Amino acid sequence: MNLPDYKEAKSRKEKTTEIEKYIYNSNYSNIGYGKKYFVKTYGCQMNEHDSENICAMLEEMGYTLVDNYMDADLVILNTCSIRENANNKAFGMLGRLKNLKETKKDLVVGLCGCMAQEEKVVDKIFSKYKWVNFVFGTHNLHRLPIILNEAFLKGKTEVEVFSKEGNIIEDMPVKRTSKYSAYVNIIYGCDKFCTYCIVPLTRGRQRSRTKEDIIKEINSLIKDGYKEITLLGQNVNAYGKDFDYHYDLANLLEDVAKTGIERIKFTTSHPWDFTDLMIDVIAKYDNIMPFIHLPVQSGSSRILKLMGRRYTREDYLTLFDKIKSKVKNVSISTDIIVGFPGEEEEDFLETMSLAEYCKFDHAFTFLFSKREGTAACRLPDITSISGKEDRLYRLNDIVNKYFLENNMKMIDKVCYVLVEGTNKKKGSLFGYNENNKLVNFMGSEDLIGKIVPIKITKAKTWNLDGEIYE
Ligand code: SAH
Ligand code: SF4
Ligand code: F3S
Repeated sequence: MNLPDYKEAKSRKEKTTEIEKYIYNSNYSNIGYGKKYFVKTYGCQMNEHDSENICAMLEEMGYTLVDNYMDADLVILNTCSIRENANNKAFGMLGRLKNLKETKKDLVVGLCGCMAQEEKVVDKIFSKYKWVNFVFGTHNLHRLPIILNEAFLKGKTEVEVFSKEGNIIEDMPVKRTSKYSAYVNIIYGCDKFCTYCIVPLTRGRQRSRTKEDIIKEINSLIKDGYKEITLLGQNVNAYGKDFDYHYDLANLLEDVAKTGIERIKFTTSHPWDFTDLMIDVIAKYDNIMPFIHLPVQSGSSRILKLMGRRYTREDYLTLFDKIKSKVKNVSISTDIIVGFPGEEEEDFLETMSLAEYCKFDHAFTFLFSKREGTAACRLPDITSISGKEDRLYRLNDIVNKYFLENNMKMIDKVCYVLVEGTNKKKGSLFGYNENNKLVNFMGSEDLIGKIVPIKITKAKTWNLDGEIYE
């Protein structure tokens, strides 16, 4: 039994990272024989990608995927703890699983992901959710077959949560959701410790994969017919900072572009680590998509300082303008937190004016949520919840207005869409264009997986309609 420990999770003592290969163990290959599994994923793309590894490991153990948890013998919740409501969602699902377990005694339930790294969550599972069969942390992903086997042998809740990150595990099996677009991790963890954020505690120290391992993975994706890759990291712009030689995101993007893969996306970018050279490389290669997710969090330098973001409003705007002027046809999206402790109306108005200036193509807006173990948790917070909600509505009005305005500018223009599938209700096809905008259009299913020129005919706030351009 290994329990989460925040003190250990916060320490950043080790400097080097070893690479370890995942080893398939045939001793576990019959555990899931004839049994069905279901994985429910919450949170970010990194969690989605982890679930692709989980599914592949379960299939190596003989399990078969079902698309409804009611039909499963094994259910795993891959959880997120970024905000309180993410935790609530997973606990709600645990409630439903408890009911199911009353009629289906052999149902096995596991919980993993970022919530598993929280001390309080594991305590709660021991006190209120004793029937959960196993819990494993983000640093224990590759040990799933061993942990599951232990849970079966012991017959009581098995918990394995390492608080400290271990080695980088290469060659994990993966069952990819899409045949055309793939996630590729480039950096794990985060050392930024923004004062509101739990991620440095749940995902550990910043560790970059080597260029060789990343390029090898991309080349094999190209061979398998993949058209698009998304390079993943909590802060991809910090890529390589943990190496004892110089090789950063600009170098990596250039090497990835040279593999010839048709489309490269990357997320998430921290403004602090964005260099001019990175912008130049993005501008230079046609296969690096002109789409950048650049979270600002607040338009007030005073709040940014309290958040520990290490850039000012002016720094952000300078970077924003530089990217807009150098990268042709670029779209920029952002994340904004409203109601950070100590945010006054005046600070909020600065966020509003920044949103007016930047006219973001997309923005995820959140109410601040207190996360235990983070520095902001201890800051005095006087604004009422209704006052914060009012700010959120006002901000959403502005950002939504610009999503639509930007989309309207696309009308009659031609863009290229990687077709992902069909909309069941409307019978139309859908996919994303170079700017990561969702486009719907009528066409034959043979186009799925292809990159198709589409002329935009109609703009909505959240998506575009178009027709095939011939
Ligand atoms: N690594 C990314 C962010 C990951 S979390 C980055 O640095 O940009 C995604 C978003 O969740 C953050 O950008 C932030 O806007 C929001 N977020 C994180 N912690 C939060 C909290 N405690 N309350 C509200 N929103 C939060
Ligand atoms: Fe969280 Fe900040 Fe790291 Fe992003 S950069 S994951 S917001 S600590
Ligand atoms: Fe959530 Fe963990 Fe991602 S907290 S946003 S699943 S890194």
